[in-house]
Amino acid sequence: MAFSALILAAGAGTRMKSDTPKVAHTLLDKPLVRWVIDCAKDAGATQICVVLGHQREKVMALVDDVPIVFQEKRLGTADAAKQARPVLAGKDAPESVIVLNGDTPLIKPETLRDLALAREASGAHACVLTFKAQNPTGYGRIVRDLEGSFVKIVEEEDASIAERNIHEVNSGVYCFDTKVLFAALERVGNDNAQGEYYLTDTLPVIMEAGGRVDIFSTEDESELVGVNNRVMLAEAAAILRQRINTRHMLEGVTMLDPSSVWIGPDVELEHDVEVLPMTLLMGDTHVGRGTVLGPNTRINSCQIGEDCSIDETIAIGSTIGNRVSTGPRAYLRPGTVLKDGVHIGTSVELKNSTIGVNSKVPHLSYIGDSQVGREVNIGAGSITCNYDGVNKHPTEIGDHAFVGSSTMFVAPVKVGNDTVTGAGSVITQDVPNGALALERSEQITKEGWSAEHKKKLIGRTGSFQTVV
Ligand code: UD1
Ligand code: CA
Repeated sequence: MAFSALILAAGAGTRMKSDTPKVAHTLLDKPLVRWVIDCAKDAGATQICVVLGHQREKVMALVDDVPIVFQEKRLGTADAAKQARPVLAGKDAPESVIVLNGDTPLIKPETLRDLALAREASGAHACVLTFKAQNPTGYGRIVRDLEGSFVKIVEEEDASIAERNIHEVNSGVYCFDTKVLFAALERVGNDNAQGEYYLTDTLPVIMEAGGRVDIFSTEDESELVGVNNRVMLAEAAAILRQRINTRHMLEGVTMLDPSSVWIGPDVELEHDVEVLPMTLLMGDTHVGRGTVLGPNTRINSCQIGEDCSIDETIAIGSTIGNRVSTGPRAYLRPGTVLKDGVHIGTSVELKNSTIGVNSKVPHLSYIGDSQVGREVNIGAGSITCNYDGVNKHPTEIGDHAFVGSSTMFVAPVKVGNDTVTGAGSVITQDVPNGALALERSEQITKEGWSAEHKKKLIGRTGSFQTVV
């Protein structure tokens, strides 16, 4: 059962009211058209061709792994499909071609395979995938005869009142005999309300030539939502979220409130991960067993180990070991590496830095472009001054260093193993192993000074008055 896939994505998507072409809009971390291409790949399509048109330059980079053809003018879905002839109608083309809309992102691979099998089994020249829509507005309606056989598809704009009341609609997914499709496309006219060449009109053309058209209907409306506007985009996202979260929960992930958890398609969670509310996990992210994520957490493309607590944290492009705790309000920027047992505390920002085993950065610090050794304690409010206004410079802090609160490391600077820096020091020079580095003037203490000072301020009465 070999089949190719033809994906129509040249439309403007005017109902999206956007500067971005519709199929480039993101749905849970992946552009609409990418969902459709990946589905066709997973289903086993031997060739895939995408038709682009409107703002093609904004879509091309998203689909650069498959052949692309262009539709110069938006003359309708039949005209778009025709453009794929050079790619999909060659001598070695598979017998079947599945046509899909680039704006139907929730379709599942098994449905495409079932559709191709159904056409093969019935010997029909075309098989159209239909579903019963609760609200059929915007979809082409399926007209059947009294025996229930397919007659035609009527678009919303061309439908009579009676036809508009039909709830069975065209999903925009079809399986055709390849040769029959490309022959029929040549004979479709544009005599309709929109003056467009409708792909749906190939079906009556095929029947007039003595061919057979079958209907393959599915009950699962959620798979076939066509995204035409932002309301449908949000509906599609909610369906996808539920689908992905359900899969993870069945694989042993706990979610207190799955409706507030958003997980991208490429995220991997091991069992006994717990995801708390208001958490987004995106990109190429992997999380080890026993780790708790959230609440209020956003992770993008991070590798996270086992038994961690990632609380109210934003982490991007970071690698986190086992038994690490972060947050609340931690910000891990790209290139952050936290080794096993690290603790990153409240309002701490890290960038392009490695923090060694069992080290702690507990409060109010910025560590950038740094290598921090093992079992280091960074006192509250300490900062690496890595930027001189033009260039970024590195800081190295050795094993077992004890960094006093509010130490400023003016990079480039190296602080050795087993060192101590005094609270409030501005470290501008390297510190050798085992040394104390202290940079602050000596404290002055004047006994009784405070009362004397107040007397001077308020005169000789000796009593304090509140000035209103
Ligand atoms: C289409 C079907 C409709 C079906 C619905 C399912 C036709 C005539 N109608 O309607 O029966 O119920 O999908 O979602 O096919 N496109 C092009 N070039 C064009 C026009 C469209 O590439 O000239 C692409 C669009 O980018 C889109 C797809 O074709 O991905 C469908 O176009 P759209 O305008 O959304 O069609 P619908 O009105 O939804
Ligand atoms: Ca559509």
